[in-house]
Amino acid sequence: MDWIRDSLEKTEKKLEAEAGRMGEKIPYIAENGRYEKDMRDENLSWWTNGFWAGMMWQMYHASGKELFKEAACKTEKTLDRALENYEGLHHDVGFMWMHTAAADYRLTGNPLSRKRALHVANLLAGRFNYAGKFIRAWNLDKTGWMIVDCMMNLSLLYWASEETGDPRYAQIADMHADTAMKEVMRPDGSCNHIVVFDPETGAVTEKPGGQGYGEGSAWSRGQAWALYGFALAFLHTGREEYLDTAKRAAHYFIANIAMTDHVSLSDFRAPEEPVVWDTTAAACAACGLLQIAEMVPELEQGLYRFHGEKILKRLTETHCCWDEVKDGILQYGTAAYHRKEDTHVPIIYGDYFLTEGLLRLAEKGFMIW
Ligand code: GLY
Repeated sequence: MDWIRDSLEKTEKKLEAEAGRMGEKIPYIAENGRYEKDMRDENLSWWTNGFWAGMMWQMYHASGKELFKEAACKTEKTLDRALENYEGLHHDVGFMWMHTAAADYRLTGNPLSRKRALHVANLLAGRFNYAGKFIRAWNLDKTGWMIVDCMMNLSLLYWASEETGDPRYAQIADMHADTAMKEVMRPDGSCNHIVVFDPETGAVTEKPGGQGYGEGSAWSRGQAWALYGFALAFLHTGREEYLDTAKRAAHYFIANIAMTDHVSLSDFRAPEEPVVWDTTAAACAACGLLQIAEMVPELEQGLYRFHGEKILKRLTETHCCWDEVKDGILQYGTAAYHRKEDTHVPIIYGDYFLTEGLLRLAEKGFMIW
């Protein structure tokens, strides 16, 4: 379709321009059309630090252009310092190294990248709480915390089992997904962001609000993590209950964005005012919807494909900045509902999911998860 080809051409041109000026920098949020801050200085262990490289690998895979590969490799090498430092790393090591080392290994066969990714899979598996059967989130006093976001990190564990022939990683991923199905998901397809367990007994103690509006609300990026994360758990295991959970999350997401012309609010259960958008949630959900469409019987595919495509079309038409002189493509991303300073800004993972989604539609995508 013309709009897909056209959007991809603009994406490639813009990312080429960005890669040309990025150097060794690791970008996060564009301010005034510039990635002013460099995450190497701000926080090298920050959970988003793999997305730039992931986007570069996607573009390298699609275009064969060396500059994309070089940019991705720079970030992977830089992240070795985060690995050596260890402090600050948490459940999101999956996001960080699936997009860097694991992607590199899958595309180039680089043995050092394989070593990095397996090392990180061990760090992730080591966070498993046996009493509650979950991978703990974050650090410090959050010993009993589990969050929906971590569903997206499980692919690293499934990959590690496939790669080594050792089933322990996948076993941990399955147990975490089972607990998430039971405690994170709600019967109506919405989900909690956070579930707190007693880390000694494994009993659930509370389900507080997180990056959304508050307790009991429906943070849209969390909904997208659930939708895509359970779809990926099904992809790696073939377990129907994961696909059913992904579909339930998808139906909840689709029903909600229907009210806002396929752009997501930051929370689907927030007051009407202020209006807080989060386009990153929509872009991530679109990728999850397209993934579901690939895995369900033919007669079911239309629903997921239609809405995944519609979200991406809408975002490219009305929420993207295609000016190559400016950094950041997808506008109106929001990191957390109450975090005013990071509201309605271009965020690196928004661009990543937009790129992945467009490449999926063009059948040029690389499966990073
Ligand atoms: N913690 C991951 C996110 O902000 O979505």
